[in-house]
Amino acid sequence: MYMLKYSLRSIGAICSILWKHDKNPEIVNFMKNNYRPDFTYPDFASQFTAEFYNPAQWADIFQASGAEYIVFGSKHHEGFTNWPSNYSFNWNSMAVGPKRDLVGDLAKAIRQNTSIHFGLYHSLFEWYNPYYLQDKANNFSTQYFVNGKTMPELYELVNNYKPEIIWSDGEWEASSDYWDSKQFIAWLYNDSPVKDTVVTNDRWGKDSTCHHGGYLTCQDRYQPGVLQKRKWENAMTIDRQSWGFRRNAALDEYLTTDELIDTFVETVRLILP
Ligand SMILES: *[C@@H]1O[C@H](CO)[C@@H](O)[C@H](O)[C@H]1NC(C)=O
Ligand SMILES: *[C@@H]1O[C@H](CO)[C@@H](O)[C@H](O)[C@H]1NC(C)=O
Ligand SMILES: *[C@@H]1O[C@H](CO)[C@@H](O)[C@H](O)[C@H]1NC(C)=O
Repeated sequence: MYMLKYSLRSIGAICSILWKHDKNPEIVNFMKNNYRPDFTYPDFASQFTAEFYNPAQWADIFQASGAEYIVFGSKHHEGFTNWPSNYSFNWNSMAVGPKRDLVGDLAKAIRQNTSIHFGLYHSLFEWYNPYYLQDKANNFSTQYFVNGKTMPELYELVNNYKPEIIWSDGEWEASSDYWDSKQFIAWLYNDSPVKDTVVTNDRWGKDSTCHHGGYLTCQDRYQPGVLQKRKWENAMTIDRQSWGFRRNAALDEYLTTDELIDTFVETVRLILP
């Protein structure tokens, strides 16, 4: 089977972890030198305008590439939803920034003009959500974040956009019991609007990753090296270091064309027909 994945994750989230969490000196100084004092991560949202976002053109390019499915980032680890979620007040692409339903517009273009299966990436956890941090401080014995934010949002996403692939992520600090993943998966495969066609990956809790799921993604850049009994995917990046767009990336920090083709062939060779 011929597989290609376009994982379009939120650009800013990467910068945020380097700045706020790792306190990477280069990023901290850049912020100090270029932004007013007390500039916060959410202050970036209005600068995310997506003015060149052209879903119809993307759909044409994806189709021409031969891709059979795509996976679009609906929400990365900073919690900003690329659709007007009722669970992400003022922190979504309709309320601030693009003022647009980025997920819905792409879903329409893909369905109207291609034969590609439409999939969505979704991060279960959110780095700075106070409810998540509270649950974590409680050793995940409470589920304020799961009940009030991330799960209602995931049901909303499936009911509204009917993705045929759910590429779950951000699971690794907690168990599938904390995330209520089993209940969600049972609903997804038995009762949801996509129950007959949907496929999921394996990142549903630290006990689930690389064990359960429709197909395995295991760790990032997974390349098992030998033929596998189960369907799997190599989630990799063309930038050697980063999962986001880096304005300052040098050309030699990207994989070369040869390296990309090697990786592609190596991956396809180990996926059962
Ligand atoms: C949010 O709630 C409103 C009012 O109930 C509803 O019309 C809308 O479809 C909801 N949005 C989403 C993304 O589900
Ligand atoms: C489908 O393609 C046509 C022709 O290129 C274009 O006019 C239309 O906007 C596309 N539909 C969507 C939903 O993007
Ligand atoms: C969480 O677990 C740690 C380590 O076992 C313990 O020190 C801490 O008191 C626990 N916190 C709560 C709120 O139960």
